[in-house]
Amino acid sequence: MNKIPLVLLAVALLATSGTCAALSDEEELGKLLYFDTNLSTPVGQSCASCHEPSAGFADPDNGLSVSQGVLPLNRFGNRNSPTAAYAAYSPDFGTITEDDETLYAGGQFWDGRAKDLVEQAKGPFLNPLEMNNPNKRTVIVKIKNSEYADFFEEVTGVDLKDLSDSNVELAYNKVAEAIAAYEGTSEVNQFSSKYDLYLAGDVQLTDEETLGLELFEGKALCSQCHPSEPGPYADQALFTDYTYDNLGTPKNMDNPFYDLPRKFNPEGAGFIDYGLGGFLKSSGTMGWENEAGKVKVPTLRNIAVTSPYMHNGVFGSLTEVVDFYNTRDNVSSNWPAPEVAENVNIDELGDLGLNETEVTALVAFMETLTDGYAAPV
Ligand code: HEC
Ligand code: HEC
Repeated sequence: MNKIPLVLLAVALLATSGTCAALSDEEELGKLLYFDTNLSTPVGQSCASCHEPSAGFADPDNGLSVSQGVLPLNRFGNRNSPTAAYAAYSPDFGTITEDDETLYAGGQFWDGRAKDLVEQAKGPFLNPLEMNNPNKRTVIVKIKNSEYADFFEEVTGVDLKDLSDSNVELAYNKVAEAIAAYEGTSEVNQFSSKYDLYLAGDVQLTDEETLGLELFEGKALCSQCHPSEPGPYADQALFTDYTYDNLGTPKNMDNPFYDLPRKFNPEGAGFIDYGLGGFLKSSGTMGWENEAGKVKVPTLRNIAVTSPYMHNGVFGSLTEVVDFYNTRDNVSSNWPAPEVAENVNIDELGDLGLNETEVTALVAFMETLTDGYAAPV
């Protein structure tokens, strides 16, 4: 602990706010790695660049539907950055049984392709559309040259001077484990929203927020997939059951990914995101067709500060999202066709019959889910 240069520690501490339990050495190391902008090629991008604490651990750049990589010239990923907060509660990717039905659940990324947070954390450093390092060794050499190199060795027991393949592999695993440990802390998962304070009996919701909550759990069916009560994965409500669904979300024609060079996107504007189905197909899993177009139900914690919305960032505001749930199937509404027409959920959304007051109330309720709520004194 005493080996972390104070400057670095101060920078890392300034980057987050709120009251938090002290971090363990491994969590502290994970935090230094999470905020280190030297770990990209060229330097300048850290995990926090796309999962920024003040933006609910999602992408602060609200002007864009998807995230820009470290290479500025037209390098975009094809998906919207989800929040990294509360991701720690997602169970390992697998199947669950619900009402005699076997469903996919858990994992990381919109399509579940990383089993858990450790596997997830290994991705961004090497992704050419994200932090763009050519290989694991590059990342480890950067850490070897960092101010916290001694601290890294002390915490992990790995000798950074040994750059043999097997040792680089070991060190890289420790990097991912430390980041995952940090993502599991109460600094990232604060449970400090107005809704949490309301459940604890410390504040009251306004009439509008109360109506929103009633609709959320009732007529609007939101809690069917975004549970507002504690469930199997945490003692607090996570606002996701980590299952997968195709809501019939339209394609986002403004996605800059469509304009990428063929090397990164051979299909151009014809690119279709099959979500979970795409991942299962690529891993040779039978029955992938039944999962085409489905993506993981995201948490709604901090949702008011993590626009744009949906896996492709097609919607800019919460009102637009609720309008979509409310009127997707109305003949008079003009929503574009689903990106993937198969497996669209027609049972729990599409024609909810909400009036304007009810739509506004649902949005007001979702705005109570932002962490760091300070009760008026
Ligand atoms: C260039 C922007 C960018 C950078 C840098 C980045 N991410 Fe992400 N992150 C994303 C996007 C986009 C996704 C969704 C990708 C997908 O689903 O295919 C994502 C997904 C995730 C998820 C999954 C959350 C969930 O609910 O499934 C976690 C956790 C995460 N990132 C953590 C990290 C960590 C840790 C780092 C640093 C090692 C990092 N990210 C760097 C953009 C970024
Ligand atoms: C059948 C399950 C289901 C129901 C019911 C449901 N959602 Fe969702 N929700 C999802 C899935 C899956 C996504 C991601 C869809 C995508 O990216 O295409 C999502 C995305 C969202 C998002 C955007 C999240 C983000 O990080 O971009 C919001 C906001 C949201 N839902 C709110 C609601 C509200 C409000 C209701 C009730 C009116 C509701 N949901 C009902 C499954 C559901």
